[in-house]
Amino acid sequence: MEELLEKLDTYRKEILGTEPDGADAAETYRIRFLGTKGIVKNLFQEIKNVPAEKKKEFGQILNEFKQLAESKYETLKDTANRQPSTANDKDWSLPGDPIPVGTRHPISLVRNRIIQIFGRLGFSVAEGPEIEDDWHNFTSLNLPEDHPARDMQDTFYVNRNPDWLLRTHTSNVQARVMEKQKPPIRIICPGRVYRNETTSARAHNFFNQCEGLYVDENVSFADLKQTLYFFVQEMFGKTVKIRFRPSYFPFTEPSAEMDITCLICGGSGCNVCKHTGWVEILGSGMVHPKVLQNFNIDPNKYTGFAFGMGMERICQLKYRVNDLRLYSQNDLRFLRQFVSAT
Ligand code: DAH
Repeated sequence: MEELLEKLDTYRKEILGTEPDGADAAETYRIRFLGTKGIVKNLFQEIKNVPAEKKKEFGQILNEFKQLAESKYETLKDTANRQPSTANDKDWSLPGDPIPVGTRHPISLVRNRIIQIFGRLGFSVAEGPEIEDDWHNFTSLNLPEDHPARDMQDTFYVNRNPDWLLRTHTSNVQARVMEKQKPPIRIICPGRVYRNETTSARAHNFFNQCEGLYVDENVSFADLKQTLYFFVQEMFGKTVKIRFRPSYFPFTEPSAEMDITCLICGGSGCNVCKHTGWVEILGSGMVHPKVLQNFNIDPNKYTGFAFGMGMERICQLKYRVNDLRLYSQNDLRFLRQFVSAT
């Protein structure tokens, strides 16, 4: 009996000292202690050699020992199950390997934001063709053939048909909408435009604009100013200031260009604002009566304002992008920087 108790003590220490070590080790442990020829079974067989008066006491000790051995096995097994699977031992319920997700292009971020801001003012999105005819891109917008203002925009013409061209501005969508829809009209038109320019950090032969058009009774220049001021504050924050400079566009009269305080240097002067503290972001004006007439809209009844902004410029000021070429190079090092931008 003494001898048996000593043996039990040794086994107890062994059990308490056993650390989890994977599924195989747990199984080895089970066979050693709980198997059909295992230690627990053997010890129970010893009962017959124990003196009758000690049998009950020994039986109890053995039962406790068995419980200890079994509960240790449960622990070893559970811990092994929670370990990562190996190639041979796959757990199909584990989460998959993460798939890398792309990021939004900065121009898309800006476009979405523009749509959101003007959407709150009741502007909806309109689209038009990138391959356009002369009438919608130029003539209907008061830019007749041989008009010197056509030189403001170097145009790509389509060889097969000299009446076709790649639109030089999103103003063609104004024409397309006024042709089909009667006032009230309140639209913005984001899209890609093309000009025959040599590519550099500051010029590109394609870029993105967003046009705006509002035609209704009693639309005034004050409405234009307030709308654009609201837009700028929503886009860049409440501290940004705006200023209008008289300008010329054939499709508006009067016309104005709008500047905002330079966000790169905060107004103290830098390359982007050419040391003036102001950056031009758009052209605008009151829709020319001739343009309204071209689409059978009575200029004595209706007035309207229009504007056109370059989205790359907005992006440059918002995210400090200093080279236009970056937008179309698809360099992941550039694009990934916008992963958490909004
Ligand atoms: N189309 C002009 C450009 O590409 C921008 C513009 C100016 C659009 C004035 C307008 C406007 O609608 O009213 O430079």
